[in-house]
Amino acid sequence: MSTSAMAKRLEGKTVLITGASSGIGRSCAFEFARTSPKDLKLVLTARRMDRLREIAAEIQAEVGDGVKVLPVELDVANPEQVRGFVARLPEEFRGIDVLVNNAGLVKGVARAPEIAEEDINIMFQTNVTGLINMTQAVLPIFKARPGGGAGDIINIGSIAGRDPYAGGSIYCATKAAVRAFTDALRKELIDTRIRVMEIDPGQVETEFSVVRFYGDKSKADAVYAGCDPLTPDDIAEVVVFVAGRRQNVVVADTLIFPSHQAAAGVMHRKQT
Ligand SMILES: NC(=O)c1ccc[n+]([C@@H]2O[C@H](COP(=O)([O-])OP(=O)(O)OC[C@H]3O[C@@H](n4cnc5c(N)ncnc54)[C@H](OP(=O)(O)O)[C@@H]3O)[C@@H](O)[C@H]2O)c1
Repeated sequence: MSTSAMAKRLEGKTVLITGASSGIGRSCAFEFARTSPKDLKLVLTARRMDRLREIAAEIQAEVGDGVKVLPVELDVANPEQVRGFVARLPEEFRGIDVLVNNAGLVKGVARAPEIAEEDINIMFQTNVTGLINMTQAVLPIFKARPGGGAGDIINIGSIAGRDPYAGGSIYCATKAAVRAFTDALRKELIDTRIRVMEIDPGQVETEFSVVRFYGDKSKADAVYAGCDPLTPDDIAEVVVFVAGRRQNVVVADTLIFPSHQAAAGVMHRKQT
């Protein structure tokens, strides 16, 4: 497995993942490490450092010293932290090749005009401004490479960005913004080897719904009742796949559903 074309292409790369403490980001960390265990650097970022340290130790125990893992505390919603982030990285982790802009969240199911201002702000600051600031912080590293620049930006969007639903207007708007930014950026970087890619998951079972319902696990569980949702590993496999293509191949856009889902609100539920 480790001698596959994909493993070879990923060898020697430095991968930065935001929101690596849980769900899709956490799974991406493991999937990159398992796919290219001989020579890889992972910079894992999120707000919960204890989680990141545990994940780093688990990866190290599983794949060994070929993968170097650096956990770093980073709140992407804090522009000051993002601004100083790259400069604070140890030299050996600064040559980022792949940025996975995964950190994101949804808060509540309120409908206008009842949406809490605080929730509106945190969703935009994290999902949109955070993603844009991270991209701008890392792009100079990509652009300094020969031939106009090289590197991968993989943005985690959502079906919500394509198919807005009632009770999710702000989250949907943030993911539509991610989509617009991603598509414009790909055009802006057309004379480089920088690949700008978006992966839009449908329903994935992670801590996402627990966060949406402010920690209420029973409400979160009800979201998945009668469903067979995607796992975060399902999305991580696609993330690593797109990063592992030949440099001239850009998997610009993907939409991934579990088999019972056909739109944001079209879900077949088994009767229980
Ligand atoms: N689950 C789904 O059904 C689904 C569907 C489509 C798209 N997505 C997208 O997938 C991405 C990952 O979500 P998930 O489903 O894996 O949910 P999750 O399990 O709740 O993970 C979210 C991650 O984002 C991090 N995060 C949140 N706010 C942050 C901040 N201000 N700064 C840094 N990190 C922050 C969290 O870490 P800390 O709390 O430790 O900071 C956590 O690691 C999100 O962009 C989400 O919108 C999810």
